[in-house]
Amino acid sequence: MKFVPITQHMYYKANILLYSVFCLITFSLIGCPAPDQPVNEKPYTVPQGFPEPIFPADNLPNAEKIELGRKLFYDPILSSDKSVACASCHKQELAFTDGNQVSRGVNRELGNRNSPTIVNTAYNQSLFWDGRSATIEEQALAAATNPAEMRAVEPVIDVRLQQDSAYTIEFARAFGNGTKPTTRFAMKAIATFVRTVLSGSSRYDEYNNGNKSALNESEIRGKDLFFSSVTQCSECHKGYNFTDNQFHSTGLFSHYYDEGRSDITKSPSDVGSFKTPSLRNIALTAPYEHDGHLPTLEAVIEHYNSGGKNFLNKDSRIRPLNLTDAEKQDLVAFLRSLTDNALLQNPKFAK
Ligand code: HEC
Ligand code: HEC
Repeated sequence: MKFVPITQHMYYKANILLYSVFCLITFSLIGCPAPDQPVNEKPYTVPQGFPEPIFPADNLPNAEKIELGRKLFYDPILSSDKSVACASCHKQELAFTDGNQVSRGVNRELGNRNSPTIVNTAYNQSLFWDGRSATIEEQALAAATNPAEMRAVEPVIDVRLQQDSAYTIEFARAFGNGTKPTTRFAMKAIATFVRTVLSGSSRYDEYNNGNKSALNESEIRGKDLFFSSVTQCSECHKGYNFTDNQFHSTGLFSHYYDEGRSDITKSPSDVGSFKTPSLRNIALTAPYEHDGHLPTLEAVIEHYNSGGKNFLNKDSRIRPLNLTDAEKQDLVAFLRSLTDNALLQNPKFAK
């Protein structure tokens, strides 16, 4: 028999074998880590072709926070008389708008503006029709405390939330042990939820992703008109979310009682300017414009076709378009193809 010296290499091999046996036994007892499964799977879904939404560094998302935000969004506990929730004016079945010309809050108090959607607001560079809020946290607090909306008084809401044993547990899970429920933390959770309400799968998107039968002839003609130099619609309603995030006067009036953007900038050239709204799910969000005075998409197209009212600050792209009746119908048909039906049933956004 030939003598085989125990080399360092063999010693090493034996060690590996021993270690493998040890691992096999221990992991069969305590469960194996699965390295090919991401430990931190994203708790929200970004539509195909959309960028990642930006979450502020002091309010990063986690599944518990999103879940808490969703619950609070539907909970009237945040309004003074517990009658109004965020969802009262932002209803899922209406693509998160309320169907009224202008919104009604606590005591059925009338606001002065039409309820915009919360969908894809994660991508908005500013919030509200006049852009007066920079963050959704700030915006949500403004909605909650607005006397024409939820009329909330912060210390009162703080106490209410702290008396609720479920919320006490859920705030600690979302924000870390020892975090007491407060209005401010509630707004952080709601803002996180709102940032996850994303939508981008309409028939138009299907068409863009290669399914050329997703749009019919009329919708395709409408799409081509929308993106053409004849209408210039897409110069303002541009990109994946159909907005340039800028403020314009589209000449809806020759005198604006609600002066819009100039309330914030104090600049006379901003009188009558409002934020370009996204057109996603637009078929579901009637009535239209900042004050909801146009009842239908047909009325909106008539407005653009007429070139708008004479108004000093009117954008030069708003001018008579001389569209035929067929072209107007095609434009409306295209706008209707921007509806994402999955959004309306998505259980992650529901009560
Ligand atoms: C009484 C109805 C009402 C309630 C309740 C309400 N909102 Fe709104 N929301 C509106 C209206 C109207 C606007 C537009 C106001 C403006 O531009 O001046 C708006 C604007 C917004 C926007 C900005 C959208 C954009 O594109 O600029 C977001 C986001 C939003 N609300 C979320 C919320 C959240 C979160 C709550 C609950 C804390 C809430 N809203 C409660 C009616 C309401
Ligand atoms: C100069 C930029 C600009 C151009 C060009 C433009 N829009 Fe708009 N659009 C806006 C702004 C700003 C608003 C909101 C105006 C307001 O409420 O005062 C708006 C509102 C709308 C609305 C109502 C949205 C809502 O949520 O109420 C629709 C629909 C619409 N535009 C479609 C179109 C179509 C179709 C065209 C082309 C025929 C077009 N827009 C051209 C800037 C523009």
